This record gives sequence, C-alpha cells and structure tokens, in this order.
Amino acid sequence: MLPEFTPITNLTIQQAQKEIATLQTDLLQYGVAYYEKDAPMVEDHIYDALYARLVALEAKFPDFITPESPTQNVGGKNVKTDLAKVQHPAPMLSLGDVFSIEELDEWDLRTSKSLGFKSEYNLELKIDGLAVALKYENGVLIQASTRGNGLIGEDVTANVKTIKSIPQTLNEPITIEVRGEIYMPKTSFATLNLQREADGLEAFANPRNAAAGSLRQLDTRITKQRELSAFIYYTAEPEKIGVTTQSSALQRFSELGLPTDKHNVVIKNMSEIKKFISEYTIKRDKLSYGIDGVVVKVNQLDMQVELGNTVKIPRWAIAYKFPPEEALTVVHDIEWTVGRTGAVTPTAVMTPVQLAGTTVKRASLHNPDYLLAKDIRIGDTVTLHKAGDIIPEIGQVILDKRPENSEIYQIPMDCPACNSKLVHLEGEVALRCINPFCSAQIKEKLTHFASRNAMNIDGMGPRVVSQLLKAEYIKDVASIYRLDIDQLLTLDKFKEKSATNLIQAIENSKRNSLERLVFGLGIRMVGSKAARLVAEQFKTLSAIAQASKDDIAKVDGIGEMIAKSIVQYFSMPESKQLIQELADQNVNQKYLSDVTVDENSFFYGKRIVLTGKLEINSRPVVTKWLENHGAKVSSSVSAKTDLLIAGIDSGSKLDKAKSLGVTVWTEQNLVEAQAKEGNDK
Ligand code: IVH
Repeated sequence: MLPEFTPITNLTIQQAQKEIATLQTDLLQYGVAYYEKDAPMVEDHIYDALYARLVALEAKFPDFITPESPTQNVGGKNVKTDLAKVQHPAPMLSLGDVFSIEELDEWDLRTSKSLGFKSEYNLELKIDGLAVALKYENGVLIQASTRGNGLIGEDVTANVKTIKSIPQTLNEPITIEVRGEIYMPKTSFATLNLQREADGLEAFANPRNAAAGSLRQLDTRITKQRELSAFIYYTAEPEKIGVTTQSSALQRFSELGLPTDKHNVVIKNMSEIKKFISEYTIKRDKLSYGIDGVVVKVNQLDMQVELGNTVKIPRWAIAYKFPPEEALTVVHDIEWTVGRTGAVTPTAVMTPVQLAGTTVKRASLHNPDYLLAKDIRIGDTVTLHKAGDIIPEIGQVILDKRPENSEIYQIPMDCPACNSKLVHLEGEVALRCINPFCSAQIKEKLTHFASRNAMNIDGMGPRVVSQLLKAEYIKDVASIYRLDIDQLLTLDKFKEKSATNLIQAIENSKRNSLERLVFGLGIRMVGSKAARLVAEQFKTLSAIAQASKDDIAKVDGIGEMIAKSIVQYFSMPESKQLIQELADQNVNQKYLSDVTVDENSFFYGKRIVLTGKLEINSRPVVTKWLENHGAKVSSSVSAKTDLLIAGIDSGSKLDKAKSLGVTVWTEQNLVEAQAKEGNDK
C-alpha cells in the first residue's frame, strides 16, 4: 500500500530531509531487487509513485540530492558500450543533392561537358535508410559496417545477420564488398512507434532514424524484432562480378541473391528523368518503404571512373530530393488520452486538410516535452507533413499567423479520466497516470483483452466495454466471463440476438489458444508476436508464470526487457489471482496449435490466386500467410476465384481474371491489407 504523502509545501526542511533519505535508501534497495536479482520487492505502481515523490521532493530541496540517489543513476540500466570500429577499404561516399529540375539540368550539362558526350543514366529510387557495407568472402557474409564518417564505420555484423533479406551466403562463392541501404518498412515503423508511445518512449522521427537506432543495438534480438530490410546498389569492385554498367550491376546483385530495388530504369535523355520523378512523386505513398528522392547515376562504369569523386561525393551521381509535402491548418484543440499502460498522450485536433493522398485532422504530439518545444497553442496555424511518408506530423507554428491573445498551452497536471496526479517517470518522456484503478486504463485494458488479435470477442468493442463498466457489470478481465444475458439486456441497444451473440463470443473465446490470452493480458512490452513466441515455447500459462527471466530470454526473438517484464507481471499477487479466476471460468491456458485461423480475417474462406513476380515477399511466404488467415490458395483462375494478386509481368491469369470480373490486387494492395490484419502470422 502507498503511504499518505504530506503535501510538499507543508513539510519542514528536517522532515523533507528525512523523507528524501528514506526514499533514497528504500528505492535503491527495490531497484537492486528488481534489476539485479529479478525479484521485485514492491509492485510497479508503488515503486513508480515513490519514485515520483522522490523526484518532486528533490526538485524542491535540491541540497539533499546525493550522487547515490536512484534519481541520479537508474539501476541496471544498460550502459551502452561502443560498437567496434571498422576501417572502410575505400571511403563510403555520400551523394550531392539538388532540389529542383533546373539544378538537375545544370548537373546534366556539367556532366555531359566533362565527358564530351551525353551519357546514359540509371535512375534509382533514393531509399530513406542508412548506408551499409557488406563484405562477403568466398560467398560468405563476414562483416557488415555502417558508414560512420565515411572512412571509419561501426561493426554491425551480428545485427545485420538478423536481417532476413540479407543473405548469409551468396549464390556464388565470390569475395566482394557491396554497399546499399538498410531501411525499415513503413508498417514496421508505424507499429514500432505505437509500441514505443505505449511504453512511454520517444517515437522515432522517421524510418531512417528508426532503422539506424535498431541497427546500432548491442542486443541483436532487438534488431531482429525491428524487422529491417535492405537494398544493395553499389560495389567498388565491379570487375569481380563482370559488369560494366550500373544497371547490370543491380541485375548481378540480384542473381547473387542480394536484395535490390527493382524500380530502376535506364534513360537516354533528361525529359525521361522528369517523367520518372513526377511518377514517383505520386507513387511514393503507395510503396511499402520510404523514399526521399531519386538518384541519377551515369550508367557506364568506365565513365564513372573518368568523372571520379570529390572527397565526399561522386561526380557521376546526384540525388534529386523530393520537396516535403506540406499543408497548412489550424489547431483547434489538444486532446489527452490515457493508454492501457497509463501513458497520457496529447493529440492535436485540426481543421481537416488534404495531405499526400489522405484527409488529415489529427496528429499525435507524442508527449508534453514535444508539445512545449514546438510551443503549439490553441488557434495556431501550423505546417503539417507526413513523417516517413505515413504519419501526420506538425512541422512548425507559423508565428505571423498566431492570434494576438494566444497563451502558452498548459500541460494538464491531473489525469483526464480519474483526476489523480500525473507523474513524469525518470527515463521516460511520457506523462503517466499511475493510479491502477484509473477508469480509462481499465477501459483500455479490457478493450485490448477483447480485441481481434487478443481474445477476439466479437461485439465487445470500446463502446460496449464502456457500457459494461458504467453498469458495473465488469471490473477486470475475469469478470467478463461472469456476464449473463439478463445483464446485457438491461443495456442500451442490446436485444435478445445481440446479447446471445456476445455471450456466445465470450464463450468461444474460452477455447482460444494460449498466445491470445498472453497478448490479451496486456503485459508491458509483450506484443502479439512476443506472446506467440513464449506460448509456443512454454505451452501453458503456468509454465510461463513459473519461468525465470533467463529461461524466457532464451526464446529466440525475446529480449531481456520483455523477459523481465513478463517475470515482473507474473510475480504480482493480482496476476496470480486473475489467472486462477480465469482457470475457474474454464478459460483455456494451453497452447493449442501452430496456427489459429482468425475467422474474422478478410481473407478467411477466400479463394485466392497468385500470379506474376512478387517483389516484396516471396511466393511461399505469401502463400503461407494467406493460408494462415484461412484463405485457399489455388493455381488457376476460375469464376469461383475471389481475388487475384498480380505481381510484375502477370500474363494470361490476369487477362482471364479481368474477363471474369475477378477482383485484382497489386502486391502493394496485399501488403496494406496485411498491415490492417496485424501482420503477425
Ligand atoms: S549511391 C558512391 N544509391 O543516400 C555511392 N545511395 O544522401 C553513393 N541512398 O549515402 C550512394 N538510396 O546512403 C545510392 N539508390 C541509391 C540510394 C542511396 C539511398 C543513400 C546513401 C547515400 C545517401 C546520400
């Protein structure tokens, strides 16, 4: 139980000194138990509240801060040691950039003049990631490094080996260094940022930062979870693969098994560059990875050598950078929402505007520091763009348009749902409500438990959860299983049929496989993937509950922090009681099968045909995913086919599907639909 705190302003100096000293000693002891012994002595929310009290006291009485205070050094925090340094055999160059077609024309003129003739150009997309160099010896990947300062980079071999699209062995036993870009696909970026915000961590500004942060992890399991990918576009040793042009180098990389972006084209005059640029200015929103421009490269490699390099950039290539797509709008309100972990997040509500293909009226402001740093005020006109091509983000306030009477925005002190004092925890940027009985957190937790990827209780969305809570029919997840029809019939909009259906859906959820329950419990940092991994490994909930941190961390794909969080969750008496209550209600706590097909999936029961060359995922991967979502994948198109997914160079099957009126999707349409399903199987 939490002690009653005396208001800080009522404390005498002696009382404050005594309380600070006690809190420092106690919290240090709790920290050692939690971080070093993995045996927490107090529940999380109590630790958090005591910690917040100490922070507040030390702020008021800074003379009593000691270097040993837990506020000065977070126990057990991973101190990042540096990655090993790697000297590049040849400098890793960057690219010169231009921002207009006129500048591009000037570059073309300069290049043609130096060469004495008009060169052929290879046009490539400029991938928004970070450069990497890969060394293969006799076809085996032996080293991967970042660009660093161009001469010396960092050794990221272990991390790069977790990236599925980068082969550990080439299709031919050659020794070569190749270079390319590591990037984070848009869907992974969006999922990662949502998770980070829920965990009170700062969101990554764009997929490039996210990819860089993920690659530089000391714990390779974290890199693996982040789902990075790569495209290779350069080697300083073209003779080793017998090529004389950039376009054929890309082709050879692909033959060797290296991932390449297939959107490149060879062109003979500048008017074609303009066409390519305008085409991808529009298409970039539809790509599954971020691009920030187009790279123009002299195609003949001997001409590249003739033009040469400056110290930092080649003369034979240039990057055309897309102008950022921006819109102006007005902020009408700032809403604060409480997530299931208690993080309280601000969202700007704005006049709706069209931006890069969608109407935008809300943008996350992430956390109070972010909001205050931008000094966003109600009534302000702001610029809006899409971070990493997808997430609406406010750029800056147009001060000239600020209303005269505007006032600095006041960050709320109290939880918008339960009115308890909000706290700023050490090491976190999020503002948190640490009241375990906060109604908004309970509502979010229950909605999460019933949601599609968790216990999949159809008909129990946020609105119904609110009704049930208001009527006091439910208070925690176990109470969902004690609901009866008569109670539901007292609620607004519930009729015999809808009530029976909901009771049936609740009953059905008792037979879910374990991973849904583990995910549904809402253990901090445990997403649907981690839940599946531990369920697959331990098979029963009690085995997970009894596993040690080391046992859990041994599961491939589970990091130390997740393991710690799981152990912490199951050590709480409330969790033990909840698990017992769920068992009493016959809620299955065993892992049932490799795959649980979600009957609500869009793909469930659909007959699907794949045709043409798939670029984003391989055909077996796509087929397995579709089958795991209940689709029947067949090889020929008929009138019974529900959907044809057409890759590149689709031929007769596409014609037949069109003539039969069968719905046709591109691979990109599929990727987007997969993202909506929660791309987890
Ligand atoms: S060529 C000497 N091609 O953009 C070779 N770079 O802003 C120089 N980038 O440092 C790189 N896509 O990290 C090249 N298709 C592409 C690229 C690309 C993205 C990156 C690369 C470079 C940065 C310059």
